[in-house]
Amino acid sequence: MKIRSVDAFTIFDSRGSPTVEAVVELENGCTGHGLVPSGASTGQFEALELRDGDPARLRGRSVDQAIAHVRGEIAHRVTGMDAYDQPALDAALCELDGTPNKSRLGANAILSVSMAIAQAAAQARGLPLFRSLGDGNLLPLPEIQIIGGGAHANWRTDVQDFLVIATGARTYAETLEITHNVYHAAADIFKERGRYYGIADEGGFWPEFDTNEEVFETFVEAIRRAGYTPGQEASLSLDIAASDLYEAETQTYRFRLEDRTFSSEAFTDLMIAWCEKYPVISIEDPAADVDPEGWKRVMRAVGDRVQIIGDDLFTTNPARIREGIAQGLANSVLIKLNQIGTVSETLEAIRLTQQAGWLPVVSARSGETEDAFICHLAVASNAGQLKVGSFARSERMVKWNECLRIERALAGQARFLGASIYDTVLGQRS
Ligand code: PGA
Ligand code: ZN
Repeated sequence: MKIRSVDAFTIFDSRGSPTVEAVVELENGCTGHGLVPSGASTGQFEALELRDGDPARLRGRSVDQAIAHVRGEIAHRVTGMDAYDQPALDAALCELDGTPNKSRLGANAILSVSMAIAQAAAQARGLPLFRSLGDGNLLPLPEIQIIGGGAHANWRTDVQDFLVIATGARTYAETLEITHNVYHAAADIFKERGRYYGIADEGGFWPEFDTNEEVFETFVEAIRRAGYTPGQEASLSLDIAASDLYEAETQTYRFRLEDRTFSSEAFTDLMIAWCEKYPVISIEDPAADVDPEGWKRVMRAVGDRVQIIGDDLFTTNPARIREGIAQGLANSVLIKLNQIGTVSETLEAIRLTQQAGWLPVVSARSGETEDAFICHLAVASNAGQLKVGSFARSERMVKWNECLRIERALAGQARFLGASIYDTVLGQRS
């Protein structure tokens, strides 16, 4: 089915910042939209998000050049191509850009069109997106933010995300019920304590704490108050986003809240200690993207019991994932479409991760849109896990709710592995 036209315009994301939406129309009149999210704690190896940088307009964050590239060069290149051949289209977009990190046309320009084509092709096939993108049927186990910190909450805590994983859930729907109970129990605790600022970028609570460890105690208490045993029905997951804490010059990590500085060894020892002391089932970016020795220490100590996810380390980049697998740096990869910039490369990153026996976690960004593409991507690829932020605000809830719709659409064919998804990787988990 041939592409008839391609257009793009500016929309605004969940932080109120401009981003790109592309519209692709096919010859039969079917259309697809591609809405691009945006990160704040971005990895240095991510594909480039093209912003105009003119301080007089939208605080330098306008995306007019990216939109001009979609309407001009990109539209010219893909018009007349077959929307059903996503790999060929994505390869053509990469070739047209011609740089390793999509810095000429902008990953936001390229991804908007790549996603819009996938949506248009699904519509033309008369299929829901998850059926058009792949043949998977696995509902994801969510990790859902309860408390937000780091770059998403003005550094109220040094750890970026404290998340819950409903390890006791038997269905996808039940994961949301457990999360609901923990989220609201946490809210009750913060209201009682009266040290509560509001909501962080991804919808999690943004309370005041004196130490990072105080957050763990509160989180475990919230799980208990919700009526669960920590580590059983509900477990902890952390995104340390350690690249944001790393100072390259001194090769040290720094906690702003506690005004402490750590060597790589001391920092990763603390990460290991947290995994041992608290019911942590998953930890993301426990070391900086330039500190492979730190990653190896964490893997050696707890890699048989805890999911170790690389986000800024891999940036959804197949070449970096291959290298990480060869070095044994982690056992899981965070998957973000806009870190790499096309649907096909994202699917390749997921496949590579799975082929190595590692676990992919499909993820949203801190700046999100009302689009639920990633839910379909997770199910279509049998990724098995999804990270979207918290259990509040519609740019987050639209994803959790879309998975409920997919669960219904799949009916008897839906699979859900729950925490047993970890069995192959975490042999020592009790
Ligand atoms: P970001 O945060 O979208 O701001 O990069 C999400 C994450 O680090 O996982
Ligand atoms: Zn992260």
